[in-house]
Amino acid sequence: MIQDKIRSLAKRKDALILAHYYQTMDIQEIAGAVGDSFELAKISAAAPQKTLIFCGVRFMAESAKILSPDKCVILPAPDAGCPMADMVTPADVRSLRREHPGAAVMTYINSSAAVKAECDICCTSSSAERVARSLREDEIIFLPDQNLGAYVAARVPEKRFILFPGYCPVHRRVSAEDVREARLARPGARLLVHPECPPEVVALADGAGSTSWILNEVENAPPGGQFIIGTETGVAERLRVTAPEQQCFLLSQSLLCPNMKKTKLQDVRDALDGETAGVELDSAVMDAARASLLRMMAV
Ligand code: 13P
Ligand code: SF4
Repeated sequence: MIQDKIRSLAKRKDALILAHYYQTMDIQEIAGAVGDSFELAKISAAAPQKTLIFCGVRFMAESAKILSPDKCVILPAPDAGCPMADMVTPADVRSLRREHPGAAVMTYINSSAAVKAECDICCTSSSAERVARSLREDEIIFLPDQNLGAYVAARVPEKRFILFPGYCPVHRRVSAEDVREARLARPGARLLVHPECPPEVVALADGAGSTSWILNEVENAPPGGQFIIGTETGVAERLRVTAPEQQCFLLSQSLLCPNMKKTKLQDVRDALDGETAGVELDSAVMDAARASLLRMMAV
């Protein structure tokens, strides 16, 4: 079976397979570590292995490479990108800095290495609020996700936020109408959403948080609960395995990230066989981007 072959190949080559919770279950099953973007960044930095096979999208593999430049980091599906990360460029950051001198620039980890290099600090969905509070500046330029930015701004009212107009095309698809329909179909179910969803959806939810937060809420709830999951399909798929005692329903069938589904078992095997090139980044860009990531990790 290909999964067993991959596991033994990874062991023999001393490689760690990392998978984001949005990957398909067959990929999550062969991974040595599964997590949200913050957890995976921490795990990849601390991993003793010299080779990391990163089952996720490009910005995640880049972050792992930036934190461990001496390791070989391979993205098994090299064309798996994040359209939101591609919405902002280093030139956008420089022009925002000119317009708002004195503001701190905070970027969501869903951004390219070159953008991180231009920013003061990174954040993930689970660390964004803490990171914003930690900054001494009163004004914060937040990019690229306007929805996560609005979510953080509402929780940190003592700061002024300038929001870049980027968005996740997957989470943006859900609407207040989807919430109304889901609530009608499942009265009594708790609606948990990712803060990348539009603000009107977040406002109607019973709770919002990162991928790991949603998983923890469901896994640690008393058995027999009902949940409507307002994030990517991979999370609901995982909950069917990790919390079979709960009933979970997707808020919308459109919550599928095609880029996260690009990784196939054969790609992971090819990566372990040395057929896929590792992530390469300019060393000056890596140094500057690392400073932004390490500032986040220190908060
Ligand atoms: P997390 O930070 O919750 O892992 O989310 C990453 C992501 O790409 C969400 O769309
Ligand atoms: Fe990017 Fe959205 Fe896919 Fe996450 S779900 S990787 S933010 S496109």
